[in-house]
Amino acid sequence: NVPVITIDGPTASGKGTVASRIADRLGFHLLDSGALYRLTALQALRGALPLSDEAGIAKLAQQLPARFRDDVIYLADEDVSHAIRAEEVGNMASKIAALPGVRRALFDLQLGFRQAPGLVADGRDMGTVIFPTAKLKVFLTASAEARAQRRYKQLIDKGFSANMNDLLADLRARDERDTGRAVAPLVAAADAHILDTSAMGVDQAVEQVLTWYTH
Ligand code: CDP
Repeated sequence: NVPVITIDGPTASGKGTVASRIADRLGFHLLDSGALYRLTALQALRGALPLSDEAGIAKLAQQLPARFRDDVIYLADEDVSHAIRAEEVGNMASKIAALPGVRRALFDLQLGFRQAPGLVADGRDMGTVIFPTAKLKVFLTASAEARAQRRYKQLIDKGFSANMNDLLADLRARDERDTGRAVAPLVAAADAHILDTSAMGVDQAVEQVLTWYTH
């Protein structure tokens, strides 16, 4: 009975950073489920598969040669840690994530990350669909403006160019796709703790989650 902590929320809510810090603190494994959608999206873009080819994209997801090691993300032997963070790949990820066949194809792969001594799972549907019996469920949110600021900083830090107005528009479009899709829409699990981080630093968010976990 390996414990799982799920951290779900909208784009750029800080989930990734918070999840990885919590995994470090507890010595738990980390599942960055968004990376699986991004890896699939990268392959679909490279192969020029149209969004209408659900079976083809689901097959890419099913056979995804993903490897995670020491904060590096590999597609077979290629380090794609940088490539998958491009805004274009994130947008494509949010589109292919609405395809039921793709979500089905990634289901077992995600369950496999649940290994002793524990798992922190970051995504959109970790607490609702993938790990519904998780010991602790957190739903991280922040205002659209705060999230656009964070995304801007993240892209600039990684050496990408970025424009605030475009980012805000992208973010709103992605929110709409994530919450409006028919399969696994983004929603807080009924038993999730809601954490609004608009005016909260990473440290404070991490401490709050750890407090919930240990009490
Ligand atoms: O960086 P950001 O939070 O936008 O995205 P991400 O967590 O890397 O995930 C990329 C995309 O995959 C998101 O826009 C979601 O649409 C999708 N996704 C999903 O549908 N389900 C998950 N469990 C994780 C990500």
